Amino acid sequence: MAFPRRLFRPSNVVVLGLALVMMSRVAEVAARGKIYSLEPRRGLLQEAGVVDVTSFGAKANDPLFDNAQAFIEAWNAACKGPGPAKLVIPPGSYITGAVVFQGPCTSSPVTVEVQGTILALPDPSVYTNGDWFTIEMVDGIVFKGGSIHLNKAQNVAIDGVTSLNSMGFHVAMTFSSNITATKLNLTAPGDSPNTDGIHISTTSSVNISDSFISTGDDCLGIIQGASDISVTGIQCGPGHGISIGSLGKYPNEQDVRGVHVKNCTLTGTTNGVRIKTFPGKLQLEASDIVFEDIVMNNVANPILIDQYYGFHQKLSASRVKVHDVHFRNIRGTSASLVAVSLACSSLFPCEGIELADIDLSYTGRKPLPISASCTNAKPTFSGKQNPPSCALI
Ligand SMILES: *[C@@H]1O[C@H](CO)[C@@H](O)[C@H](O)[C@H]1NC(C)=O
Ligand SMILES: *[C@@H]1O[C@H](CO)[C@@H](O)[C@H](O)[C@H]1NC(C)=O
Ligand SMILES: *[C@@H]1O[C@H](CO)[C@@H](O)[C@H](O)[C@H]1NC(C)=O
Ligand SMILES: *[C@@H]1O[C@H](CO)[C@@H](O)[C@H](O)[C@H]1NC(C)=O
Repeated sequence: MAFPRRLFRPSNVVVLGLALVMMSRVAEVAARGKIYSLEPRRGLLQEAGVVDVTSFGAKANDPLFDNAQAFIEAWNAACKGPGPAKLVIPPGSYITGAVVFQGPCTSSPVTVEVQGTILALPDPSVYTNGDWFTIEMVDGIVFKGGSIHLNKAQNVAIDGVTSLNSMGFHVAMTFSSNITATKLNLTAPGDSPNTDGIHISTTSSVNISDSFISTGDDCLGIIQGASDISVTGIQCGPGHGISIGSLGKYPNEQDVRGVHVKNCTLTGTTNGVRIKTFPGKLQLEASDIVFEDIVMNNVANPILIDQYYGFHQKLSASRVKVHDVHFRNIRGTSASLVAVSLACSSLFPCEGIELADIDLSYTGRKPLPISASCTNAKPTFSGKQNPPSCALI
Protein backbone atom coordinates (compact mmCIF):
# COMPACT_ATOMS: atom_id res chain seq x y z
CA MET A 1 0.00 0.00 0.00
CA ALA A 2 1.41 3.37 -1.01
CA PHE A 3 0.25 6.89 -0.44
CA PRO A 4 0.67 9.24 -3.38
CA ARG A 5 2.80 11.99 -1.91
CA ARG A 6 0.85 14.81 -3.50
CA LEU A 7 -2.20 13.98 -1.44
CA PHE A 8 -0.33 15.17 1.62
CA ARG A 9 0.67 18.49 0.20
CA PRO A 10 -1.77 21.04 1.54
CA SER A 11 -2.18 23.70 -1.07
CA ASN A 12 -5.34 25.41 0.03
CA VAL A 13 -8.02 25.33 2.64
CA VAL A 14 -10.18 22.89 0.68
CA VAL A 15 -7.60 20.21 1.40
CA LEU A 16 -8.34 20.36 5.09
CA GLY A 17 -11.05 17.73 5.12
CA LEU A 18 -8.96 15.42 3.01
CA ALA A 19 -5.94 15.99 5.19
CA LEU A 20 -7.92 14.97 8.25
CA VAL A 21 -9.10 11.82 6.57
CA MET A 22 -5.61 10.96 5.44
CA MET A 23 -4.36 11.59 8.94
CA SER A 24 -6.54 8.86 10.35
CA ARG A 25 -5.47 6.52 7.54
CA VAL A 26 -1.87 7.14 8.57
CA ALA A 27 -2.77 6.38 12.17
CA GLU A 28 -4.39 3.13 11.12
CA VAL A 29 -1.40 2.08 9.09
CA ALA A 30 0.98 3.02 11.88
CA ALA A 31 -1.09 0.97 14.28
CA ARG A 32 -0.64 -2.04 12.02
CA GLY A 33 3.10 -1.65 12.35
CA LYS A 34 3.95 0.27 9.19
CA ILE A 35 5.20 3.74 9.81
CA TYR A 36 5.18 6.23 6.99
CA SER A 37 7.55 9.01 7.59
CA LEU A 38 6.15 12.35 6.63
CA GLU A 39 8.57 15.14 6.05
CA PRO A 40 8.16 17.75 8.71
CA ARG A 41 6.52 20.77 7.21
CA ARG A 42 4.21 23.46 8.38
CA GLY A 43 1.09 22.30 6.64
CA LEU A 44 -2.52 21.56 7.35
CA LEU A 45 -1.82 17.89 7.69
CA GLN A 46 0.61 18.41 10.50
CA GLU A 47 -1.63 20.91 12.16
CA ALA A 48 -4.71 18.74 11.98
CA GLY A 49 -3.82 16.92 15.20
CA VAL A 50 -2.06 19.85 16.78
CA VAL A 51 -3.63 21.76 19.62
CA ASP A 52 -2.01 25.04 20.52
CA VAL A 53 -2.66 26.26 24.06
CA THR A 54 -2.85 29.86 22.90
CA SER A 55 -5.97 29.06 20.88
CA PHE A 56 -7.55 28.10 24.22
CA GLY A 57 -6.68 31.42 25.79
CA ALA A 58 -3.18 30.77 27.13
CA LYS A 59 -1.11 33.93 27.37
CA ALA A 60 2.65 34.05 27.23
CA ASN A 61 4.79 36.52 29.13
CA ASP A 62 2.02 37.77 31.39
CA PRO A 63 3.20 37.40 34.98
CA LEU A 64 -0.31 37.92 36.35
CA PHE A 65 -2.16 35.41 34.19
CA ASP A 66 -2.79 31.86 35.39
CA ASN A 67 -2.80 29.58 32.36
CA ALA A 68 -4.06 26.47 34.17
CA GLN A 69 -7.58 26.62 32.75
CA ALA A 70 -6.35 27.15 29.18
CA PHE A 71 -3.88 24.27 29.50
CA ILE A 72 -6.54 21.93 30.79
CA GLU A 73 -9.00 22.84 28.03
CA ALA A 74 -6.34 22.45 25.37
CA TRP A 75 -5.36 19.10 26.88
CA ASN A 76 -8.96 17.91 26.79
CA ALA A 77 -9.18 18.84 23.10
CA ALA A 78 -5.94 16.98 22.30
CA CYS A 79 -6.94 13.99 24.39
CA LYS A 80 -10.39 13.55 22.91
CA GLY A 81 -9.31 13.58 19.27
CA PRO A 82 -9.51 10.74 16.75
CA GLY A 83 -5.87 9.96 15.94
CA PRO A 84 -2.43 11.06 17.09
CA ALA A 85 -2.48 14.45 18.79
CA LYS A 86 0.04 17.02 19.84
CA LEU A 87 -0.45 19.65 22.50
CA VAL A 88 1.91 22.53 21.85
CA ILE A 89 2.98 25.18 24.31
CA PRO A 90 4.67 27.71 22.01
CA PRO A 91 7.71 29.83 22.87
CA GLY A 92 7.30 32.30 25.73
CA SER A 93 6.81 32.02 29.50
CA TYR A 94 3.56 30.75 30.90
CA ILE A 95 2.57 31.01 34.53
CA THR A 96 0.32 28.22 35.69
CA GLY A 97 -1.24 26.88 38.83
CA ALA A 98 -1.94 23.19 39.35
CA VAL A 99 -2.72 21.33 36.16
CA VAL A 100 -4.11 17.83 35.81
CA PHE A 101 -3.95 16.18 32.41
CA GLN A 102 -6.43 13.40 32.78
CA GLY A 103 -7.15 10.40 30.59
CA PRO A 104 -8.29 8.11 29.28
CA CYS A 105 -7.80 9.65 25.85
CA THR A 106 -9.29 8.62 22.54
CA SER A 107 -6.32 10.03 20.63
CA SER A 108 -3.05 8.14 20.76
CA PRO A 109 -0.27 8.88 21.14
CA VAL A 110 -0.59 12.31 22.66
CA THR A 111 2.59 14.34 22.51
CA VAL A 112 2.97 17.30 24.81
CA GLU A 113 5.55 19.61 23.34
CA VAL A 114 6.76 22.44 25.51
CA GLN A 115 8.61 24.91 23.30
CA GLY A 116 8.34 27.69 25.85
CA THR A 117 8.91 27.72 29.57
CA ILE A 118 6.23 26.84 32.05
CA LEU A 119 6.54 28.58 35.37
CA ALA A 120 4.79 27.80 38.59
CA LEU A 121 2.90 30.44 40.52
CA PRO A 122 5.28 31.99 43.03
CA ASP A 123 3.15 31.04 46.04
CA PRO A 124 3.58 27.30 46.73
CA SER A 125 0.55 27.26 49.05
CA VAL A 126 -1.76 27.32 46.03
CA TYR A 127 -0.59 23.79 45.19
CA THR A 128 -2.76 21.97 47.65
CA ASN A 129 -1.03 18.62 47.44
CA GLY A 130 2.30 19.93 46.27
CA ASP A 131 1.79 18.77 42.69
CA TRP A 132 2.17 21.11 39.83
CA PHE A 133 1.69 18.99 36.74
CA THR A 134 -0.18 15.75 37.18
CA ILE A 135 -0.89 13.22 34.49
CA GLU A 136 -3.51 10.65 35.32
CA MET A 137 -4.79 7.53 33.65
CA VAL A 138 -3.21 8.25 30.32
CA ASP A 139 -2.04 5.34 28.21
CA GLY A 140 0.59 6.44 25.71
CA ILE A 141 1.90 9.95 26.04
CA VAL A 142 5.14 11.52 24.93
CA PHE A 143 6.20 14.45 27.04
CA LYS A 144 8.71 16.98 25.83
CA GLY A 145 9.52 19.66 28.37
CA GLY A 146 8.02 20.61 31.76
CA SER A 147 7.85 18.81 35.13
CA ILE A 148 5.31 16.30 36.10
CA HIS A 149 3.65 13.85 38.37
CA LEU A 150 2.65 10.65 36.65
CA ASN A 151 -0.15 8.95 38.53
CA LYS A 152 -1.78 5.76 37.23
CA ALA A 153 -0.11 6.35 33.89
CA GLN A 154 1.19 3.74 31.51
CA ASN A 155 3.45 3.73 28.46
CA VAL A 156 4.82 7.19 28.94
CA ALA A 157 7.97 8.67 27.43
CA ILE A 158 9.46 11.85 28.84
CA ASP A 159 12.15 13.41 26.74
CA GLY A 160 14.16 16.53 27.41
CA VAL A 161 12.64 18.16 30.45
CA THR A 162 14.21 21.29 31.83
CA SER A 163 13.06 22.37 35.22
CA LEU A 164 13.81 25.71 36.71
CA ASN A 165 12.45 27.72 39.58
CA SER A 166 12.51 27.52 43.30
CA MET A 167 9.62 25.12 43.72
CA GLY A 168 12.04 22.33 43.15
CA PHE A 169 10.39 20.75 40.19
CA HIS A 170 10.71 17.08 39.86
CA VAL A 171 9.28 14.01 38.26
CA ALA A 172 7.16 11.79 40.47
CA MET A 173 5.76 8.43 39.46
CA THR A 174 3.07 6.60 41.38
CA PHE A 175 0.87 3.63 40.41
CA SER A 176 2.35 3.69 36.93
CA SER A 177 4.18 1.36 34.58
CA ASN A 178 6.39 1.36 31.50
CA ILE A 179 7.85 4.83 31.85
CA THR A 180 10.89 5.99 29.90
CA ALA A 181 12.57 9.24 30.84
CA THR A 182 15.62 10.52 29.06
CA LYS A 183 17.64 13.73 28.75
CA LEU A 184 16.12 15.36 31.76
CA ASN A 185 17.69 18.35 33.44
CA LEU A 186 16.20 18.64 36.88
CA THR A 187 17.65 21.41 38.95
CA ALA A 188 16.45 22.85 42.22
CA PRO A 189 18.38 24.84 44.80
CA GLY A 190 20.62 22.72 47.01
CA ASP A 191 18.75 23.83 50.12
CA SER A 192 15.26 22.97 48.88
CA PRO A 193 13.83 20.42 51.32
CA ASN A 194 12.40 17.04 50.44
CA THR A 195 12.43 17.41 46.72
CA ASP A 196 13.69 14.25 45.11
CA GLY A 197 14.69 14.85 41.52
CA ILE A 198 12.88 11.71 40.45
CA HIS A 199 10.65 9.95 42.92
CA ILE A 200 9.41 6.47 42.05
CA SER A 201 6.95 4.43 44.08
CA THR A 202 4.38 1.71 43.33
CA THR A 203 5.63 1.76 39.76
CA SER A 204 7.19 -0.88 37.53
CA SER A 205 9.25 -0.97 34.34
CA VAL A 206 10.96 2.37 34.41
CA ASN A 207 13.99 3.33 32.34
CA ILE A 208 15.75 6.58 33.20
CA SER A 209 18.79 7.58 31.18
CA ASP A 210 21.21 10.36 30.31
CA SER A 211 20.06 12.99 32.74
CA PHE A 212 21.42 15.71 34.93
CA ILE A 213 19.87 16.00 38.38
CA SER A 214 20.76 18.53 41.02
CA THR A 215 18.41 18.96 43.96
CA GLY A 216 18.18 19.53 47.68
CA ASP A 217 17.27 15.89 48.31
CA ASP A 218 17.81 12.55 46.59
CA CYS A 219 18.59 12.82 42.90
CA LEU A 220 16.67 9.64 42.58
CA GLY A 221 14.43 8.21 45.28
CA ILE A 222 13.27 4.68 44.62
CA ILE A 223 10.63 4.00 47.21
CA GLN A 224 8.19 1.28 48.20
CA GLY A 225 6.52 -0.72 45.47
CA ALA A 226 9.13 0.08 42.81
CA SER A 227 10.18 -2.80 40.59
CA ASP A 228 12.15 -3.35 37.41
CA ILE A 229 13.85 0.03 37.47
CA SER A 230 16.78 0.74 35.16
CA VAL A 231 18.90 3.86 35.59
CA THR A 232 21.85 4.75 33.35
CA GLY A 233 23.96 7.80 32.58
CA ILE A 234 22.81 10.02 35.44
CA GLN A 235 24.94 12.89 36.65
CA CYS A 236 23.84 13.64 40.19
CA GLY A 237 24.84 16.47 42.49
CA PRO A 238 24.60 18.35 44.67
CA GLY A 239 21.97 16.51 46.64
CA HIS A 240 21.65 13.36 48.71
CA GLY A 241 22.60 10.86 46.02
CA ILE A 242 20.80 7.86 44.57
CA SER A 243 18.65 6.16 47.18
CA ILE A 244 16.48 3.16 47.60
CA GLY A 245 14.06 3.97 50.40
CA SER A 246 13.47 5.04 52.93
CA LEU A 247 11.46 1.92 53.54
CA GLY A 248 9.56 0.52 56.48
CA LYS A 249 8.03 3.60 57.99
CA TYR A 250 4.43 3.51 56.81
CA PRO A 251 1.85 0.72 56.85
CA ASN A 252 1.04 -1.09 53.58
CA GLU A 253 4.39 -0.45 51.95
CA GLN A 254 5.41 -2.91 49.27
CA ASP A 255 8.75 -4.52 48.45
CA VAL A 256 11.34 -2.97 46.18
CA ARG A 257 12.67 -5.49 43.68
CA GLY A 258 14.91 -5.26 40.62
CA VAL A 259 16.84 -2.01 40.49
CA HIS A 260 19.81 -1.58 38.13
CA VAL A 261 21.85 1.59 38.42
CA LYS A 262 24.71 1.80 35.91
CA ASN A 263 27.20 4.34 34.59
CA CYS A 264 26.31 7.21 36.91
CA THR A 265 28.48 10.00 38.31
CA LEU A 266 27.83 11.58 41.70
CA THR A 267 29.50 14.86 42.55
CA GLY A 268 29.55 16.57 45.95
CA THR A 269 26.59 14.62 47.28
CA THR A 270 26.03 13.68 50.92
CA ASN A 271 25.60 10.04 49.91
CA GLY A 272 26.48 7.99 46.88
CA VAL A 273 24.41 4.88 46.38
CA ARG A 274 22.43 3.88 49.43
CA ILE A 275 19.62 1.79 50.80
CA LYS A 276 17.88 3.28 53.83
CA THR A 277 15.27 1.65 56.03
CA PHE A 278 13.59 2.60 59.27
CA PRO A 279 13.61 0.57 62.44
CA GLY A 280 10.06 -0.57 63.04
CA LYS A 281 7.35 -3.16 62.73
CA LEU A 282 6.79 -3.41 59.02
CA GLN A 283 8.22 -6.48 57.33
CA LEU A 284 9.42 -5.86 53.79
CA GLU A 285 12.14 -6.77 51.33
CA ALA A 286 14.53 -4.83 49.15
CA SER A 287 16.24 -7.19 46.73
CA ASP A 288 17.90 -7.76 43.37
CA ILE A 289 19.73 -4.48 43.28
CA VAL A 290 22.83 -3.68 41.22
CA PHE A 291 24.93 -0.53 41.42
CA GLU A 292 27.70 -0.69 38.83
CA ASP A 293 30.18 1.53 37.01
CA ILE A 294 29.65 4.43 39.37
CA VAL A 295 32.05 7.35 39.76
CA MET A 296 32.10 9.23 43.07
CA ASN A 297 33.55 12.74 43.21
CA ASN A 298 33.94 14.01 46.75
CA VAL A 299 30.93 12.08 48.03
CA ALA A 300 30.42 11.87 51.79
CA ASN A 301 29.11 8.30 52.12
CA PRO A 302 29.79 6.63 48.79
CA ILE A 303 28.44 3.15 49.57
CA LEU A 304 25.83 2.94 52.28
CA ILE A 305 23.24 0.58 53.64
CA ASP A 306 21.60 2.31 56.57
CA GLN A 307 18.97 0.24 58.34
CA TYR A 308 18.89 2.66 61.26
CA TYR A 309 17.81 5.61 59.20
CA GLY A 310 16.88 8.60 61.32
CA PHE A 311 18.03 6.88 64.53
CA HIS A 312 21.34 7.75 66.06
CA GLN A 313 21.28 4.94 68.54
CA LYS A 314 20.52 1.41 67.53
CA LEU A 315 17.42 1.28 69.67
CA SER A 316 15.37 -1.10 67.61
CA ALA A 317 15.99 -3.12 64.50
CA SER A 318 14.53 -2.71 61.06
CA ARG A 319 12.41 -5.56 59.70
CA VAL A 320 13.27 -4.77 56.11
CA LYS A 321 15.22 -7.68 54.66
CA VAL A 322 17.90 -6.43 52.29
CA HIS A 323 19.29 -9.14 50.02
CA ASP A 324 21.05 -9.71 46.70
CA VAL A 325 22.66 -6.32 46.41
CA HIS A 326 25.70 -5.89 44.17
CA PHE A 327 28.15 -3.00 44.29
CA ARG A 328 30.47 -3.35 41.28
CA ASN A 329 33.16 -1.10 39.88
CA ILE A 330 32.64 1.88 42.14
CA ARG A 331 35.54 4.31 42.11
CA GLY A 332 36.54 7.87 42.89
CA THR A 333 36.79 9.93 46.03
CA SER A 334 35.13 9.93 49.43
CA ALA A 335 34.68 13.03 51.57
CA SER A 336 34.38 10.91 54.72
CA LEU A 337 36.66 8.33 56.27
CA VAL A 338 34.15 5.49 56.24
CA ALA A 339 33.68 5.05 52.52
CA VAL A 340 31.77 1.79 52.72
CA SER A 341 29.22 1.37 55.47
CA LEU A 342 26.85 -1.57 55.63
CA ALA A 343 24.73 -1.15 58.74
CA CYS A 344 22.26 -3.99 58.40
CA SER A 345 19.46 -5.09 60.67
CA SER A 346 20.24 -7.38 63.60
CA LEU A 347 16.83 -9.03 63.19
CA PHE A 348 17.10 -9.49 59.43
CA PRO A 349 20.79 -9.40 58.49
CA CYS A 350 21.67 -8.50 54.91
CA GLU A 351 22.31 -11.47 52.63
CA GLY A 352 23.90 -11.85 49.24
CA ILE A 353 25.82 -8.58 49.34
CA GLU A 354 28.64 -8.34 46.80
CA LEU A 355 31.45 -5.80 46.73
CA ALA A 356 33.52 -6.06 43.56
CA ASP A 357 36.20 -3.66 42.32
CA ILE A 358 35.80 -0.89 44.83
CA ASP A 359 38.40 1.86 44.59
CA LEU A 360 37.79 4.94 46.70
CA SER A 361 40.21 7.38 48.25
CA TYR A 362 39.81 10.20 50.76
CA THR A 363 39.55 13.79 49.52
CA GLY A 364 40.44 15.45 52.82
CA ARG A 365 43.60 17.51 53.16
CA LYS A 366 45.42 14.89 55.20
CA PRO A 367 46.10 11.62 53.39
CA LEU A 368 44.19 9.54 55.95
CA PRO A 369 43.32 5.92 55.35
CA ILE A 370 39.67 5.21 54.76
CA SER A 371 37.78 2.22 56.02
CA ALA A 372 34.81 -0.02 55.48
CA SER A 373 32.36 -0.95 58.19
CA CYS A 374 30.00 -3.91 58.10
CA THR A 375 27.44 -4.93 60.70
CA ASN A 376 25.05 -7.85 60.28
CA ALA A 377 26.34 -8.40 56.77
CA LYS A 378 28.81 -10.91 55.34
CA PRO A 379 29.56 -9.58 51.88
CA THR A 380 31.49 -11.45 49.24
CA PHE A 381 34.49 -9.61 47.84
CA SER A 382 36.27 -9.70 44.52
CA GLY A 383 38.71 -7.53 42.63
CA LYS A 384 40.19 -4.44 44.15
CA GLN A 385 39.08 -3.46 47.66
CA ASN A 386 39.98 0.05 48.66
CA PRO A 387 39.02 0.67 51.47
CA PRO A 388 40.21 -2.76 52.63
CA SER A 389 37.43 -5.28 52.89
CA CYS A 390 35.57 -5.26 56.17
CA ALA A 391 35.92 -9.06 56.28
CA LEU A 392 39.54 -8.52 57.37
CA ILE A 393 38.57 -6.62 60.51
C1 LIG B 1 5.99 1.11 26.59
O1 LIG B 1 5.69 2.43 26.25
C2 LIG B 1 6.09 2.82 24.94
C3 LIG B 1 5.77 4.30 24.79
O2 LIG B 1 6.60 5.05 25.57
C4 LIG B 1 5.39 1.96 23.92
O3 LIG B 1 5.86 2.30 22.64
C5 LIG B 1 5.70 0.50 24.22
O4 LIG B 1 4.97 -0.33 23.33
C6 LIG B 1 5.31 0.15 25.64
N1 LIG B 1 5.74 -1.21 25.95
C7 LIG B 1 4.90 -2.12 26.43
C8 LIG B 1 5.51 -3.45 26.73
O5 LIG B 1 3.72 -1.89 26.64
C1 LIG C 1 20.49 22.36 33.44
O1 LIG C 1 19.73 23.48 33.82
C2 LIG C 1 20.47 24.43 34.56
C3 LIG C 1 19.51 25.49 35.07
O2 LIG C 1 18.66 25.90 34.09
C4 LIG C 1 21.58 24.98 33.66
O3 LIG C 1 22.34 25.93 34.35
C5 LIG C 1 22.48 23.82 33.21
O4 LIG C 1 23.44 24.28 32.28
C6 LIG C 1 21.67 22.72 32.56
N1 LIG C 1 22.54 21.57 32.37
C7 LIG C 1 22.52 20.81 31.30
C8 LIG C 1 23.46 19.65 31.31
O5 LIG C 1 21.77 21.01 30.38
C1 LIG D 1 17.15 2.00 28.94
O1 LIG D 1 17.45 3.05 28.06
C2 LIG D 1 18.78 3.05 27.61
C3 LIG D 1 19.01 4.31 26.82
O2 LIG D 1 17.92 4.59 26.00
C4 LIG D 1 19.02 1.78 26.81
O3 LIG D 1 20.35 1.74 26.36
C5 LIG D 1 18.74 0.59 27.69
O4 LIG D 1 18.85 -0.60 26.94
C6 LIG D 1 17.37 0.66 28.30
N1 LIG D 1 17.27 -0.40 29.28
C7 LIG D 1 16.19 -1.16 29.41
C8 LIG D 1 16.26 -2.19 30.49
O5 LIG D 1 15.21 -1.02 28.70
C1 LIG E 1 27.71 6.97 30.54
O1 LIG E 1 26.96 8.15 30.86
C2 LIG E 1 27.37 9.30 30.17
C3 LIG E 1 26.50 10.45 30.66
O2 LIG E 1 26.74 10.68 32.00
C4 LIG E 1 27.24 9.11 28.67
O3 LIG E 1 27.72 10.24 28.00
C5 LIG E 1 28.04 7.89 28.26
O4 LIG E 1 27.82 7.63 26.90
C6 LIG E 1 27.63 6.67 29.05
N1 LIG E 1 28.49 5.55 28.76
C7 LIG E 1 28.04 4.34 28.48
C8 LIG E 1 29.08 3.30 28.21
O5 LIG E 1 26.85 4.07 28.44
